[in-house]
Amino acid sequence: MANHRKKFIDLMDKGIAVCDTMDRDDLLFSYKGILYPKTVCSPEIFKALESFEARQEDVILAGYPKSGTKWVGQILTDLVTTSAENNEDETNSLNDEELEEFPYLEVGDAEKYQRMEKLSSRRVIFTHLVPHNLPESIFKNKAKVLVLVRNPKDVATSFYHFTNVMSPLPSYETWDEFFTAFMTGKMPWGSYFDYICEWSKHVDDENVMTITYEELKENRVLGVKKIAEFFVLLLTEEQLQAVADRSSFQAMKENAHKTHGAFGNILFRKGGVSDWKNLFNEDQNQEMDKMFEERLGRTNLGAKIKYEVYCKA
Ligand code: A3P
Repeated sequence: MANHRKKFIDLMDKGIAVCDTMDRDDLLFSYKGILYPKTVCSPEIFKALESFEARQEDVILAGYPKSGTKWVGQILTDLVTTSAENNEDETNSLNDEELEEFPYLEVGDAEKYQRMEKLSSRRVIFTHLVPHNLPESIFKNKAKVLVLVRNPKDVATSFYHFTNVMSPLPSYETWDEFFTAFMTGKMPWGSYFDYICEWSKHVDDENVMTITYEELKENRVLGVKKIAEFFVLLLTEEQLQAVADRSSFQAMKENAHKTHGAFGNILFRKGGVSDWKNLFNEDQNQEMDKMFEERLGRTNLGAKIKYEVYCKA
């Protein structure tokens, strides 16, 4: 696992070093009305992304930041690798070159998509983008997409801790200040509420499956099995159990330095449900409850989040 993370670790280390010298107000740029961190994304890469040609066999994971994308990303990568080994199909295995590519579609350099064309299937691709900012070929070519969602209170809590220790993202003096930014959508990769609303329109698409952070926390093995079934990845019961074991919070945290370098400590923070109770005050709870009801209460994805269970004190 360690070798193929080199690109990820290098890019993050470089980004962090550059940002240490940058002004807070210069860290983000806006593209089509959405903010992104300058050190990892650029208008050039978004332009180049339009020409990205998705394949039906691609394995795509979509999730708003801090929803557990690296967790589910590890599950997917592990499933694809193990299934390829079972098939003894050289062309279907993740070769070194592939493993070297930064897994987030919109992060990297503008030549990335040319390099990705040379990669064999099945390519595992992560993204934080809303569907209308993804290349059309993903939908046209019927690539399968796993949409990962997490309840908004824990996402906001996780994002707050993350943004304050990640120099490519703006830090906040107080939780209250961050809460306002989150509620008004002034976040890197845009508004959580817009994100869920937009993906909600695709929930019933034939090639889309949704999974929640909370259901995976409740039963990781079942979640792993559902994901494998959706992408038609053939593993034995023991192999599925092993994938689930390798993706426990504890296992991933212990391995974090190897997989994510210095950045690892920041990524695997608490890995639980309901940490929002340590930050939200009563007014903020009410504001979030109202916003959720108005924006997402009647959406398909909103229902899957089980707001009453996970976001009410
Ligand atoms: P917390 O900050 O609440 O701990 P992302 O990968 O999208 O940035 O999401 C990060 C969140 O997923 C963090 O949440 C992190 O701890 C959590 N996470 C990472 N690996 C996990 C795992 N194996 N099990 C549960 N949660 C995990």
